[in-house]
Amino acid sequence: MRVLYLSPAAGLGGAERALVDMIRALRTVEPSWPVGLLALDDGPLLAEARAVGADASVLPLPPTFARTGESGRQAAATWLRLSRSAGPLLALSRTLRTQIRAWGPDLVHSNGVKTHVLGAWCAGAGVPLVWHIHDYLSARPVSRHLLRLHRRRANAVVANSHSVAADVEAAIGGNPPVTIYNAVDFSRFTATGTPLDLDALAGLPAPARPVVRVGLIGTFARWKGHAVFLDAVSRLATPSPVRAYVIGEAVYHTGSASQVTRAELEALVHARGLGDRVGFTGFVADAAAACRALDIVVHASTSPEPFGLAIVEAMACGRAVIVSDGGGAREIGVPGQTCLTHAPGSAVELADRIARLVDDAALRTRLGAAAASHVRHRFTHQHMGTALGDLYRQLHRGDARG
Ligand code: GLC
Repeated sequence: MRVLYLSPAAGLGGAERALVDMIRALRTVEPSWPVGLLALDDGPLLAEARAVGADASVLPLPPTFARTGESGRQAAATWLRLSRSAGPLLALSRTLRTQIRAWGPDLVHSNGVKTHVLGAWCAGAGVPLVWHIHDYLSARPVSRHLLRLHRRRANAVVANSHSVAADVEAAIGGNPPVTIYNAVDFSRFTATGTPLDLDALAGLPAPARPVVRVGLIGTFARWKGHAVFLDAVSRLATPSPVRAYVIGEAVYHTGSASQVTRAELEALVHARGLGDRVGFTGFVADAAAACRALDIVVHASTSPEPFGLAIVEAMACGRAVIVSDGGGAREIGVPGQTCLTHAPGSAVELADRIARLVDDAALRTRLGAAAASHVRHRFTHQHMGTALGDLYRQLHRGDARG
């Protein structure tokens, strides 16, 4: 079966990293199936997808449409931007239709809202279309409206957690989505291996005394809670052995309504007098090596996390992880046994959990070891590839899930 993936973005955010693992998972289970990727932007996703065996190419989006993102933006502003892109979008959809037909897929799997809609227009009659939803739709009125309008064209909807599946069903109707958890590459995300030199990356001096390294790894989406993290660090009793790291950067083109800027975060560090207790590494390609350099990995999302790939990856690396307690992230670990949790947005609680782990190295080791063995059999390529292969075969036979 020829499977063509569509991605609106080509930076390596969570949904795109999940897509690379999806392709790897499918190729593990169905190595003879040709896999293609058509991305509406150029970026590091293309090379990553090629490295796992996809025939990847780019069809650039019109710039105004590329900059349209809903999170953090007023619905009216989003509609306005969309209406401005209408002409170029029609032209794009003609080219997209031709390119899809030329690749000749037996099934099209779309990985983002923009390609869900374009896929509904362009996948071609009789070609099953799968929508993979990585984020809550109830918080995004424009996406919700557009997807509801096109819902009947999607033969199946995949969600990255049960929590997202329930939200999607309520938001756009149709048959319940199939939940397929993301997979982690357990050959890369290991407890042993070379750690990154975070201090060098962040331009911090080598510490004079032993430090406990605490980091938040993620894109700069506003709801990822960088400010809560910095606030929590500023609440730790001083002197503290903690060195904190902000690992990642803004990877989407959707601007400062939905993403924090480094300058904003640096201003917070300055305002809280954190000085060289906090380092910014920028984008890090080797997330596994970044995890291994940390003693404690913090997840601080202020809204429910749809899934939380970074959480599973940190657990696979045997780290002590503090998770913001909400959404699909709740489906990953067992609080108190494989991770600690804090209430979303509560810097006070987060500071308390960090302090507990800083003071108790044995607890860090215990949680990290339990985390690694907990995720090891739950989020494998084998699981994901089998679930995708079964779904694709079912749709190809015409057993529409609707
Ligand atoms: C999105 C979600 C995140 C999830 C990722 C992969 O980035 O916000 O929670 O881990 O997609 O599914």
